[in-house]
Amino acid sequence: MKICHVVGARPNFMKAAPVLRALRSYPAIEQYVVHTGQHYDFNMSDVFFQQLEMAPPDINLQVGSGSHAQQTAQIMSRFEAVVLERQPDLVLVYGDVNSTVAAALVCAKLGIRVGHVEAGLRSFDRAMPEEINRLVTDQLADMLFTPSADGNANLAREGVSPEKVHLAGNVMIDTLVRMLPAARQAIPADLPERFVLVTLHRPSNVDNPEWLDKLLEALAAIGRKIPVLFPVHPRTRQHIAASESSLASARGIRLMDPLPYLQFLGLQTRATLVVTDSGGIQEETTFLGVPCLTVRENTERPITVTSGTNLLVGQDLQKLLTEVERVLDGNVKQGCVPPLWDGHAADRIAAVIGEKNVLAVAKG
Ligand code: UD1
Repeated sequence: MKICHVVGARPNFMKAAPVLRALRSYPAIEQYVVHTGQHYDFNMSDVFFQQLEMAPPDINLQVGSGSHAQQTAQIMSRFEAVVLERQPDLVLVYGDVNSTVAAALVCAKLGIRVGHVEAGLRSFDRAMPEEINRLVTDQLADMLFTPSADGNANLAREGVSPEKVHLAGNVMIDTLVRMLPAARQAIPADLPERFVLVTLHRPSNVDNPEWLDKLLEALAAIGRKIPVLFPVHPRTRQHIAASESSLASARGIRLMDPLPYLQFLGLQTRATLVVTDSGGIQEETTFLGVPCLTVRENTERPITVTSGTNLLVGQDLQKLLTEVERVLDGNVKQGCVPPLWDGHAADRIAAVIGEKNVLAVAKG
């Protein structure tokens, strides 16, 4: 059985790594990796392959950046050629980025089976490009691996047949668990005792200059109370450069380039508080028991709010500042780790795929 893994953007790499590893235990399975090239900077891509001990991708489609339609279309036309040539038995796609939906659509049209890892998550906000990617990918997938039970409920409501859906747990937490010791070694010695770790890259936060300026002013206000460490995503960097805010010179704010996986995870373990609009970081902070304030009106990962340490502050900057104060005063939301976020989600995925392969061989 030939399995093709498709990855493209930063949050895909830590999800694919444990699945690749787990499938190595099945000798009848051959696997290879196609990188779409959606992310291409060294510190958005290559460094993750190195740190996660993944072999370099077998194929790189080198699509680069573009509008959603351009990027998705480029991935589709280049990936279709690969699928036609290599004829995989199963294509695994990860998360909710443009690479995910593009590959799923190619396979669905060619009658190639697709497995979606991190299926079923919903923000119920179609203004988010990722929500469109999730809805379409899950309708097309033949095997859907969910990280938590809310994913199964969403898929059932959308009419996805339950036989296709497997509650596997969270593969990103598999990587976190495996890499945590190395991440602790990667913590810089000159880290402040207490600090706020910030990441922002959602179009809803960074593409609107007026809103971004207000957000940056709020960060500057936080920086006057406690050091703020802010690794800046390339999308955000472009917009901060054009911003009227003087964040770069604001006291207490340390802007830096995007960090490699280990360095960022190391900082999360030591952060007093994380302020983010990322999806994955809401999950990582929940696992680590670190307070997280999410600058979004909704989340596709509600379990991080109901069970974990996450709180949505929406686009209410007064609420953001009030909640920061509360954490600094020691009023920290306690959370617990959701079921199946145990470091073995990829083993469960591999077992399902391996079992199906055995059945296919037996039948055929
Ligand atoms: C993408 C995903 C988002 C994910 C994020 C993680 C989609 C729709 N969005 O958003 O879900 O949370 O990745 O990072 O798939 N750029 C670089 N270097 C790179 C990559 C991008 O400079 O290596 C710049 C380009 O100017 C590009 C911009 O960043 O136009 C945005 O990149 P893009 O891949 O379109 O979306 P992200 O915002 O990274």
